[in-house]
Amino acid sequence: MSDQSLFNVAVVGATGAVGEQILRLLAERNFPIKSLKLLSSARSAGKRVAFKGRELTVEEATPDSFKGVDIALFSAGGDVSRALIPRAVEHGAVCIDNTNAYRMDPDTPLVVPEVNIDKVAEHKGIIANPNCSTIQMVAALKPLYDRFGISRIIVSTYQAVSGAGAKAIDEMLRQTGEVLAGRDANPDILPVSSLPVKHQMAFNVVPQIDKFQDNGFTLEEMKMIKETKKIMGDDTIEVTATCVRVPVVYGHSESVYVELKQDYDLGEVKALLADAPGIVVTDDPSRQLYPLATEAAGKNEVFVGRIRRDLSNPRALNLWIVSDNLLKGAAWNAVQIAEHIAIPQR
Ligand SMILES: NC(=O)c1ccc[n+]([C@@H]2O[C@H](COP(=O)([O-])OP(=O)(O)OC[C@H]3O[C@@H](n4cnc5c(N)ncnc54)[C@H](OP(=O)(O)O)[C@@H]3O)[C@@H](O)[C@H]2O)c1
Repeated sequence: MSDQSLFNVAVVGATGAVGEQILRLLAERNFPIKSLKLLSSARSAGKRVAFKGRELTVEEATPDSFKGVDIALFSAGGDVSRALIPRAVEHGAVCIDNTNAYRMDPDTPLVVPEVNIDKVAEHKGIIANPNCSTIQMVAALKPLYDRFGISRIIVSTYQAVSGAGAKAIDEMLRQTGEVLAGRDANPDILPVSSLPVKHQMAFNVVPQIDKFQDNGFTLEEMKMIKETKKIMGDDTIEVTATCVRVPVVYGHSESVYVELKQDYDLGEVKALLADAPGIVVTDDPSRQLYPLATEAAGKNEVFVGRIRRDLSNPRALNLWIVSDNLLKGAAWNAVQIAEHIAIPQR
């Protein structure tokens, strides 16, 4: 490969739950890297991280970190993206952002490669990676949208604690031990680290992901509603969401009711899903086969099962959609976009 087709890459949030997976995927996929910068807060600066048999030193992310960087993958929270992405763009980097900072910005494409990869071409330096629970839902619904049209979606999520970062995983595992030993769970991070009230996560189900909005929905629920319309490019799709945290480490599960615009044949729906890129149909009730978070964990695909006709509306169907939130929900979606920029023919 000539030097011109190698890229100077920066990973911001390299020590986090998403950043760690981005690094693993860049190595596994043999991404064409000329140089790799690992950036974090001052807390992790100096830490050594292995990459393809070498040890790289993590640096504190500053506005000057992006000189000479071609592609920057951000997963260090919305505030960091808002502060540093404009500087990275000034330095000429294309930024792929996993946070909420630019997703609804009209100038920023919001991309799920299986749905709207063509939007990447419209970027002005920033490409946003959607919210994890939205990515897996739209990836599964796109083939049905293209064939039948979609008028309405009602989704309830069962989201893993890894969706709230590495510290939330540690908290849930610690609490599990504490509660089994008969001690207090001492919640400290979940449901929302910046809010004063915390709830036990181990052995519990918590109907709050992110902060409540004035309309009674949480921010996570509003992300699903707004981002679905933007990614599908269709404001007429009605969406309602209830987002719930469950004591699962990796993999978000979703119960999705979808109303199509036309009558449909269930066999055709299953065939469309089975043929769709990035989708795996796991659906055989006679053998108790359906998608499970434990089986989706560590995989890049979106798993769909429990595909059945709704009994109250002949144009509606019900689905169970599961995917690893750290992979298709974040790191893999971002690396797919980076590959599209770096190696469009792949
Ligand atoms: N987890 C998911 O499933 C998921 C899915 C989609 C999107 N996201 C988004 O991705 C982002 C990261 O999520 P995560 O789960 O990986 O969180 P995490 O495990 O808590 O990791 C956060 C990362 O950001 C770095 N960081 C924090 N403050 C920083 C600062 N001021 N400057 C530079 N780096 C800073 C941390 O570095 P230190 O080691 O120095 O603290 C760490 O590397 C969030 O915005 C989240 O909403 C997450």
